[in-house]
Amino acid sequence: MFVQKPNLLLGRTKRRKFMPLAQLPPMGWNSWNTFGWQINEKLIFEMADLMASQGYREAGYEYLVIDDCWSLRERGKDGRIVPDPEKFPHGMKAVADYVHSKGLKFGMYSCAGVRTCAGYPGSYDHEFVDAQTFADWGVDFLKYDFCNFPQSGNCKARYLTMSMALKATGREILFSACNWGMEEPGEWMRAIGAHMYRSTGDIMDNFVSFTDIVKSQLNKLCMSGNHCFNDMDMLTVGMEGKGNVGLGKVCSYEEYRLQFVLWCLCGVPLMMGADLRTLAPEYRALMLNPALLRINQDAECRPPYIVRRDSVCIPNPDDAQAPWAHPADTAFVLLRHLTDNEFALFYANLSDADAEVHCEMADMGLPVTGGVALDMTDVFSGEHLGPQKDSFNPHIKAHDCRLFLCHLVKDNA
Ligand code: GLA
Repeated sequence: MFVQKPNLLLGRTKRRKFMPLAQLPPMGWNSWNTFGWQINEKLIFEMADLMASQGYREAGYEYLVIDDCWSLRERGKDGRIVPDPEKFPHGMKAVADYVHSKGLKFGMYSCAGVRTCAGYPGSYDHEFVDAQTFADWGVDFLKYDFCNFPQSGNCKARYLTMSMALKATGREILFSACNWGMEEPGEWMRAIGAHMYRSTGDIMDNFVSFTDIVKSQLNKLCMSGNHCFNDMDMLTVGMEGKGNVGLGKVCSYEEYRLQFVLWCLCGVPLMMGADLRTLAPEYRALMLNPALLRINQDAECRPPYIVRRDSVCIPNPDDAQAPWAHPADTAFVLLRHLTDNEFALFYANLSDADAEVHCEMADMGLPVTGGVALDMTDVFSGEHLGPQKDSFNPHIKAHDCRLFLCHLVKDNA
């Protein structure tokens, strides 16, 4: 008798439970940059309230993530990690429930090594029980660090193990791997199921730190895209020198704007790190800027094209023999293709002096002979500059940038 085989494909379709995660760069808030080990239930509830009431959730910041230092120093008798009862007196399920009640998703932290970076229990050899514990609590996002990883251990295999352990729980959990760029994560994190992967060491709250991160990643963004994004670390925008990765020295508004614009332009996850309770209004407005978020969340997830990356030319008044200086890696022009034939065009001057940043339109694929110009609108001022051709050479202050939204127009002149 002929027995019809079950239609496996159809069965699979029927059983589909998960929506694809991290379609676009994940957005949220993480406790580490400002609070370090000084975290507790009250603080997390306050952040959840603010994310829901001050427009962050509506803008797309959906994950509220507790970083390191949430547990006791030793596992319980049952082998499970135990939340610190002084910091989280009602346990983690209660925190998750509260976060969910605000329409947000809840993230937690563990480590691929035997201990976290701050010395709390890590998940090495406990991946399946820990993943199940997180799932039981209602966790939606796991940041997975790389401290205290055994020398004999296999990094890729252990990240795969946790990825499998999360999937085995049957709960939809975004896997945020954090191995600081070891073993070229862009080459394998997508394959092991990670949704984002930290690709550098830790950010600090200053200009050199965040620009170094960008410089090290610009050529690697081609491996970042839908469902698995290069993570350039949590933002320090608005920290103003305070907190765990604060260094006392305050970044200028323009420097923070540069950081946020770069994270948006690079299409990387946007995890805020500042204290939302005391964040100055201009930084809230910056991180809620619809044009910048639209660039970050563009559906095509393309990396920016490097039109120009070299040196600005600045006066060198102290040296009569060499009146001009060309500090390395200070002039940047980046062009990002967006959906609907739109473009984001970015000019930056990363030197310590004001300078002109020159750029020929031909280097953006628009030779004069093409008869096509770039119609530009300044994102910060709203000014419509109109069609530009031949070249565009803005004067830019030290550590500052300009950003334009553009489209192509026929140049009949
Ligand atoms: C590492 C990570 C940071 C943070 C700390 C916590 O340094 O890179 O983002 O999670 O550990 O200890």
